[in-house]
Amino acid sequence: MICMHRNHFELVQSKIFHYAGWFINAINITLQQMTHILNIINIKQLVQVNRPGIVKGKEMSSLPTIVNAFLKIENGIIADFGEMKNFQSDHEEKIIDATGKMVFPCWCDSHTHLVYAGSREGEFMDRIRGLSYEEIAKRGGGILNSAQRLHNASEEELFTNAMKRLDEIMQQGTGAAEIKSGYGLSVEDELKMLRVIKKLKEHSPLTIKATFLGAHAIPKEYQESRHKYIDLIIEEMMPRIAEEKLADYCDVFCERNYFTKEETVQILKAGLKHGLKPKVHANQLSNSGGVQAGVECGAISVDHLEYIGEEEINVLKNSNTMPTILPGAQFFLGLPFPPARTMIDAGLPLAIASDYNPGSSPSGNMNLMTSFSCIQYKMTPEEVVNAATINSAYAMDVLTDLGSIDKGKKANVFITKEILSIAYLPYSFGSNLIATVIINGEIVYEN
Ligand code: NIG
Ligand code: FE
Repeated sequence: MICMHRNHFELVQSKIFHYAGWFINAINITLQQMTHILNIINIKQLVQVNRPGIVKGKEMSSLPTIVNAFLKIENGIIADFGEMKNFQSDHEEKIIDATGKMVFPCWCDSHTHLVYAGSREGEFMDRIRGLSYEEIAKRGGGILNSAQRLHNASEEELFTNAMKRLDEIMQQGTGAAEIKSGYGLSVEDELKMLRVIKKLKEHSPLTIKATFLGAHAIPKEYQESRHKYIDLIIEEMMPRIAEEKLADYCDVFCERNYFTKEETVQILKAGLKHGLKPKVHANQLSNSGGVQAGVECGAISVDHLEYIGEEEINVLKNSNTMPTILPGAQFFLGLPFPPARTMIDAGLPLAIASDYNPGSSPSGNMNLMTSFSCIQYKMTPEEVVNAATINSAYAMDVLTDLGSIDKGKKANVFITKEILSIAYLPYSFGSNLIATVIINGEIVYEN
């Protein structure tokens, strides 16, 4: 009996082991099937590797790269990278041979207004004939022109057109974009814009951040009672936006004929109470006090900076605010150059973004922005790559996920065509040198 019992016990035990082993094997196979691996091999140069944080001053001219490298992507995340001699292949994976080509982390575009209705080439022609951006705005054009068009557009239409713009910039190597409201200028229309941005976050593979820019311009009906519009922003728009969790940041156009420095501080501080981190449109058309307002409120970035001097540079030095230049708007409006060289030489960090919008920068092409910065502001190719990746990632709070080739970050990278050097990219302004774009480990574009 005892013997039989033992036999029976052993039999049951061996069956359990058998089934457990089979079960574990099955799980392993399923996990292997679920692990989606993509390797890029024979990379001529893997650019912007091992970057723990932003770079400033002299550090901006260093760009860490690995020559003859591989990059391993697992389930959308950078799993490993290094020299080709250390590459180990397993069989299940997809391989891209990048011989002669370079791999960069995708651009982070920390300042766009890419949700808009219609276009403004009529104003473009007015400027060709001699009117300035400010003169056009005084006649009721400019931001108010776009606000009128946006009012008449449906959420669906805005979403469809913005998705097309996101696809376009993705093909140009952008992997993350901040998008602002600011063409609504009424409670309902600002919320409409922000809901569209929320939907873009859900539908686009790009990493997206939303900014509330109700303080973009004073609507016509409030021209004589501007404080009432500011009250509307603070008392009606902000609580609704916070309640529906529609924005990450709050921005103000701090400029003559738009919002004063004091109003900017008032609005940004109110935004902070609703959990919206400050950003500022600062010093684009005049020495507006925007930089000081931004730093006083702990802004993550102050953007434009055509009109800044020693005072603003000193204020920025003692801050965690990222100075951001927008070469598209400077170029398109024929504004003075922002003193990029002086800022970097003074030890500041610098970010580059596109400002993609219908009035001052109808392009979101970050390759072009880096070219303009080299050609016009005398930044070096290394500096512009830093400014448009790791530093702009900071300016939109995505540094832990994007902006460099580091293990654990999102695999948002682009592969160039065969190019001679890193400098060849900004040098070849206007050419499309991007061969493949990978977002979250998936190939989304091949040229
Ligand atoms: O960043 N300067 C203010 N806002 C935008 C332009 C908006 C427009 O003209 O539609 C900018 O340049
Ligand atoms: Fe802007």
